[in-house]
Amino acid sequence: MLKIRRIPLLFVVLVVLLVIAFYLTTLTRNDGFIDPLADQGRIVQGKTVYTANCAACHGANLEGQANWRERLDNGRLPAPPHDKTGHTWHHPDWLLVDMVKHGLVPGRTAPPGYESDMPAYGGLLTDEEIVAVIAYIKSTWPPRVLEAQKEVTLRNSK
Ligand code: HEC
Repeated sequence: MLKIRRIPLLFVVLVVLLVIAFYLTTLTRNDGFIDPLADQGRIVQGKTVYTANCAACHGANLEGQANWRERLDNGRLPAPPHDKTGHTWHHPDWLLVDMVKHGLVPGRTAPPGYESDMPAYGGLLTDEEIVAVIAYIKSTWPPRVLEAQKEVTLRNSK
Protein backbone atom coordinates (compact mmCIF):
# COMPACT_ATOMS: atom_id res chain seq x y z
CA MET A 1 0.00 0.00 0.00
CA LEU A 2 2.62 2.47 1.11
CA LYS A 3 4.69 1.89 -2.03
CA ILE A 4 1.77 2.52 -4.34
CA ARG A 5 1.03 5.80 -2.59
CA ARG A 6 4.60 6.94 -2.80
CA ILE A 7 4.82 6.72 -6.57
CA PRO A 8 2.17 9.34 -7.35
CA LEU A 9 3.62 11.56 -4.64
CA LEU A 10 7.06 11.37 -6.23
CA PHE A 11 5.47 12.09 -9.57
CA VAL A 12 3.70 15.17 -8.20
CA VAL A 13 6.93 16.43 -6.63
CA LEU A 14 8.72 15.95 -9.94
CA VAL A 15 6.04 17.84 -11.87
CA VAL A 16 6.09 20.68 -9.33
CA LEU A 17 9.88 20.91 -9.63
CA LEU A 18 9.65 20.98 -13.41
CA VAL A 19 7.06 23.76 -13.30
CA ILE A 20 9.25 25.79 -10.96
CA ALA A 21 12.30 25.25 -13.18
CA PHE A 22 10.33 26.32 -16.25
CA TYR A 23 9.01 29.41 -14.47
CA LEU A 24 12.53 30.40 -13.38
CA THR A 25 13.93 30.11 -16.90
CA THR A 26 11.14 32.23 -18.36
CA LEU A 27 11.76 34.79 -15.62
CA THR A 28 15.46 35.04 -16.37
CA ARG A 29 15.06 34.94 -20.14
CA ASN A 30 14.58 38.69 -20.51
CA ASP A 31 13.59 39.84 -23.97
CA GLY A 32 13.63 43.40 -22.64
CA PHE A 33 10.02 44.21 -23.45
CA ILE A 34 8.27 46.27 -20.77
CA ASP A 35 4.68 45.08 -20.96
CA PRO A 36 2.40 47.84 -19.66
CA LEU A 37 -0.48 45.39 -19.33
CA ALA A 38 1.49 43.12 -17.00
CA ASP A 39 1.20 45.17 -13.86
CA GLN A 40 -1.52 47.71 -13.07
CA GLY A 41 0.21 48.88 -9.88
CA ARG A 42 3.32 49.75 -11.86
CA ILE A 43 1.27 52.01 -14.13
CA VAL A 44 -0.15 53.87 -11.14
CA GLN A 45 3.37 54.28 -9.73
CA GLY A 46 4.66 55.39 -13.14
CA LYS A 47 1.97 58.04 -13.48
CA THR A 48 2.98 59.55 -10.13
CA VAL A 49 6.63 59.57 -11.23
CA TYR A 50 5.64 61.11 -14.58
CA THR A 51 3.54 63.91 -13.04
CA ALA A 52 6.30 64.84 -10.59
CA ASN A 53 9.28 64.62 -12.99
CA CYS A 54 8.31 64.68 -16.64
CA ALA A 55 5.00 66.48 -17.12
CA ALA A 56 6.57 69.96 -16.85
CA CYS A 57 8.29 69.43 -20.19
CA HIS A 58 6.56 66.50 -21.89
CA GLY A 59 3.07 67.75 -20.92
CA ALA A 60 0.48 66.61 -18.37
CA ASN A 61 -1.20 64.55 -21.09
CA LEU A 62 2.06 63.48 -22.77
CA GLU A 63 1.41 66.02 -25.52
CA GLY A 64 4.94 67.46 -25.56
CA GLN A 65 5.93 71.11 -26.01
CA ALA A 66 4.43 73.36 -28.67
CA ASN A 67 6.10 73.08 -32.09
CA TRP A 68 8.26 70.25 -30.79
CA ARG A 69 9.66 69.51 -34.25
CA GLU A 70 11.18 72.99 -34.58
CA ARG A 71 14.53 73.80 -33.03
CA LEU A 72 14.76 76.51 -30.37
CA ASP A 73 17.00 79.55 -30.85
CA ASN A 74 19.82 77.70 -29.08
CA GLY A 75 19.58 74.90 -31.65
CA ARG A 76 18.12 72.37 -29.22
CA LEU A 77 14.85 70.55 -29.66
CA PRO A 78 11.80 71.04 -27.43
CA ALA A 79 10.42 68.06 -25.49
CA PRO A 80 8.54 65.70 -27.84
CA PRO A 81 5.19 64.12 -26.94
CA HIS A 82 5.19 60.62 -25.46
CA ASP A 83 1.74 59.78 -26.82
CA LYS A 84 1.21 58.03 -30.14
CA THR A 85 1.88 61.26 -32.11
CA GLY A 86 5.51 61.40 -30.96
CA HIS A 87 8.46 59.15 -31.71
CA THR A 88 8.93 57.53 -28.30
CA TRP A 89 7.35 54.35 -29.67
CA HIS A 90 9.96 54.19 -32.46
CA HIS A 91 12.57 53.23 -29.85
CA PRO A 92 13.22 49.87 -28.16
CA ASP A 93 12.65 49.73 -24.40
CA TRP A 94 16.33 49.43 -23.45
CA LEU A 95 17.02 52.69 -25.31
CA LEU A 96 14.13 54.48 -23.57
CA VAL A 97 15.42 53.30 -20.19
CA ASP A 98 18.93 54.46 -21.14
CA MET A 99 17.75 57.90 -22.26
CA VAL A 100 15.73 58.48 -19.09
CA LYS A 101 18.59 57.29 -16.92
CA HIS A 102 21.46 59.11 -18.62
CA GLY A 103 19.79 61.75 -20.78
CA LEU A 104 20.84 61.83 -24.44
CA VAL A 105 24.52 60.90 -24.45
CA PRO A 106 26.44 62.15 -27.53
CA GLY A 107 28.11 59.31 -29.38
CA ARG A 108 26.03 56.67 -27.62
CA THR A 109 22.32 57.47 -27.66
CA ALA A 110 22.63 60.64 -29.75
CA PRO A 111 24.89 61.83 -32.56
CA PRO A 112 28.39 63.03 -31.55
CA GLY A 113 28.36 66.57 -30.20
CA TYR A 114 24.59 66.51 -29.72
CA GLU A 115 23.15 68.95 -27.19
CA SER A 116 19.88 68.21 -25.46
CA ASP A 117 17.69 69.56 -22.66
CA MET A 118 16.60 66.07 -21.61
CA PRO A 119 17.86 65.66 -18.02
CA ALA A 120 19.47 62.44 -16.69
CA TYR A 121 17.35 60.79 -13.99
CA GLY A 122 19.80 58.09 -12.89
CA GLY A 123 20.55 59.88 -9.61
CA LEU A 124 16.93 60.87 -8.93
CA LEU A 125 14.87 57.81 -9.81
CA THR A 126 15.43 54.13 -9.08
CA ASP A 127 15.55 51.64 -11.96
CA GLU A 128 12.14 50.44 -10.83
CA GLU A 129 10.70 53.96 -11.05
CA ILE A 130 12.21 54.44 -14.52
CA VAL A 131 10.65 51.19 -15.76
CA ALA A 132 7.36 52.23 -14.12
CA VAL A 133 7.28 55.61 -15.86
CA ILE A 134 7.95 53.94 -19.21
CA ALA A 135 5.23 51.38 -18.49
CA TYR A 136 2.86 54.27 -17.74
CA ILE A 137 3.75 56.07 -20.99
CA LYS A 138 3.23 52.82 -22.92
CA SER A 139 -0.09 52.15 -21.22
CA THR A 140 -1.54 55.17 -23.05
CA TRP A 141 -0.67 53.83 -26.52
CA PRO A 142 -3.30 52.12 -28.69
CA PRO A 143 -2.73 48.35 -29.17
CA ARG A 144 -1.31 48.78 -32.70
CA VAL A 145 1.31 51.29 -31.58
CA LEU A 146 2.26 49.10 -28.63
CA GLU A 147 2.55 46.08 -30.90
CA ALA A 148 4.80 48.01 -33.32
CA GLN A 149 7.04 49.13 -30.45
CA LYS A 150 7.18 45.57 -29.15
CA GLU A 151 8.52 44.46 -32.53
CA VAL A 152 11.14 47.21 -32.48
CA THR A 153 12.16 46.16 -28.96
CA LEU A 154 12.41 42.45 -29.77
CA ARG A 155 14.26 43.08 -33.04
CA ASN A 156 16.78 45.30 -31.27
CA SER A 157 17.05 43.37 -28.01
CA LYS A 158 20.59 43.29 -26.67
C1 HEC B 1 13.54 69.94 -18.64
C2 HEC B 1 12.61 69.35 -19.56
C3 HEC B 1 12.46 67.85 -19.55
C4 HEC B 1 12.07 67.03 -18.51
C5 HEC B 1 11.72 67.46 -17.10
C6 HEC B 1 12.02 65.68 -19.04
N1 HEC B 1 12.38 65.67 -20.36
FE1 HEC B 1 12.47 64.04 -21.60
N2 HEC B 1 13.14 65.24 -23.10
C7 HEC B 1 13.26 66.61 -23.04
C8 HEC B 1 13.71 67.10 -24.31
C9 HEC B 1 13.95 68.56 -24.67
C10 HEC B 1 13.86 65.97 -25.15
C11 HEC B 1 14.27 65.97 -26.61
C12 HEC B 1 15.73 65.80 -26.64
C13 HEC B 1 16.30 65.98 -28.01
O1 HEC B 1 15.82 65.36 -28.97
O2 HEC B 1 17.25 66.73 -28.09
C14 HEC B 1 13.50 64.81 -24.34
C15 HEC B 1 13.52 63.52 -24.78
C16 HEC B 1 13.08 62.42 -24.08
C17 HEC B 1 13.07 61.07 -24.57
C18 HEC B 1 13.60 60.60 -25.89
C19 HEC B 1 12.82 61.07 -27.04
C20 HEC B 1 11.66 60.22 -27.41
O3 HEC B 1 11.78 59.54 -28.38
O4 HEC B 1 10.63 60.27 -26.74
C21 HEC B 1 12.51 60.30 -23.60
C22 HEC B 1 12.25 58.81 -23.65
C23 HEC B 1 12.18 61.17 -22.50
N3 HEC B 1 12.55 62.45 -22.82
C24 HEC B 1 11.59 60.76 -21.34
C25 HEC B 1 11.44 61.57 -20.22
C26 HEC B 1 10.93 61.10 -18.96
C27 HEC B 1 10.42 59.69 -18.69
C28 HEC B 1 10.98 62.15 -18.09
C29 HEC B 1 10.64 62.15 -16.63
C30 HEC B 1 11.26 61.14 -15.82
C31 HEC B 1 11.49 63.29 -18.85
N4 HEC B 1 11.75 62.90 -20.12
C32 HEC B 1 11.68 64.57 -18.32
C33 HEC B 1 13.03 67.41 -21.97
C34 HEC B 1 12.64 66.99 -20.72
